[in-house]
Amino acid sequence: MLLGTEEDWPAAFEEILRRLGPVSGPDGTRHAFDCERITIEPFNLRYRPRYQLVVDRLAYWYYHPREWLKKVALMDRVYLLNSPFTFQSMEKHAAYCAMMRLGLKVPDTVLVPYKHPLDNARYAYTSAKYNQPFDLDAIARGIGYPLYMKPYDGGAWRGVSRVGNAAELHASYDDSGEMLMHLQKAIDDYDAFARSLSIGAETMVMRFRPEQPMHQRYAVDHDFLSAPAGDEVVTISRLVNAFFRWEFNSCETLVKGAEVYPIDYANACPDVALTSLHYYFPWAMKALVKWCVFVLVTGRRPRLDLDTGRYFEIADDPDLSYGQKLAAYRVLADAYFDRDRYLDFCASSLGLLNDVVLDWVAGSGFDDLLVRTVRAGYPAHEHDQFIAHLRGLVALWVRDEQQEQRPAG
Ligand SMILES: Nc1ncnc2c1ncn2[C@@H]1O[C@H](COP(=O)(O)OP(=O)(O)OP(=O)(O)O)[C@@H](O)[C@H]1O
Ligand SMILES: [Mg+2]
Repeated sequence: MLLGTEEDWPAAFEEILRRLGPVSGPDGTRHAFDCERITIEPFNLRYRPRYQLVVDRLAYWYYHPREWLKKVALMDRVYLLNSPFTFQSMEKHAAYCAMMRLGLKVPDTVLVPYKHPLDNARYAYTSAKYNQPFDLDAIARGIGYPLYMKPYDGGAWRGVSRVGNAAELHASYDDSGEMLMHLQKAIDDYDAFARSLSIGAETMVMRFRPEQPMHQRYAVDHDFLSAPAGDEVVTISRLVNAFFRWEFNSCETLVKGAEVYPIDYANACPDVALTSLHYYFPWAMKALVKWCVFVLVTGRRPRLDLDTGRYFEIADDPDLSYGQKLAAYRVLADAYFDRDRYLDFCASSLGLLNDVVLDWVAGSGFDDLLVRTVRAGYPAHEHDQFIAHLRGLVALWVRDEQQEQRPAG
């Protein structure tokens, strides 16, 4: 694990892996797992790392570990969740383009030049000579108010603003400084905001409430989408991940009537905090453990070649409806993630995992982690109430999980 400030999920991951113990592969071989937190130090480009797989949560921001990841991916066949090759070259903007190309309902989006050009002596000359003057108001009117102005490579709501009129438009653009901005049509009065977290071949679609404080954004709600909309959200999430070779990513879609609009994907370091995921946290940890174990035991190899042609063939087929295209994308995406083999593997080799995680989450070890996490991250006067709130959600998960695991009849 290549980590920044997080302590909660890494502790959970380490504990679950330890409790799981060795795993037998489909061919009967036994595999033991060891997990370390990687430290940052000088490295010789020819040295051989000890790792077979890295879950990276740091390299998006730190260049030294990012370059280390590139070295171990290129030279040492280390499997990465996620690969910096895929995230540095393909950010939110690239994902919008690809998803529009595939026929998805990404809201109308325009990229405008920098408000303040980068600090580069040659830029002044270049922009004086080649930058076309443009009418920001006309662009906004073309898209229609309200709209969102947000960085082309977004993340963590940095620089995102909702723009309702020309005055706000100019204020936001003036504030954008050296950020490169999209203007995007707002989807208003949507029925549901779905945030999905995908880890390898699995996807969890959750009801999200962006207007709430961080720890209340994910609502526990199992039926907030119609079956077809839910399926479409899963398909879009898995499609974008398979298309770009992202294996640990979240995706946001707005559902209005029967329409599903994707607005945000490409999160190199998706939120998996215990305090925000709460009820869904055990699912996320299980999915992460399962995917890592599956990759290592079955010898799955990273595939960075994008294979876009196969997706575009579907996109360009005039005989296919939108629904048929989605179904065809889903087949490609599930094949990329080897979903059938993954599910077989989980059933045959990881049958104990559900019990292992249930035991742990229901016990005092998990409660200690919960209390530690809240104390470390929140002001003292909020501790008691927040801990009680989280305990309630965890108890709900434990109850649901016990019911799920109880044999029928
Ligand atoms: N086109 C849109 N229509 C309606 N709401 C939008 C639209 N674009 C963005 N938003 C709102 O703004 C929020 C932030 O936008 P977005 O998710 O694109 O930025 P971000 O920086 O990637 O945020 P994060 O990393 O937290 O997901 C969204 O969660 C949503 O509430
Ligand atoms: Mg977002």
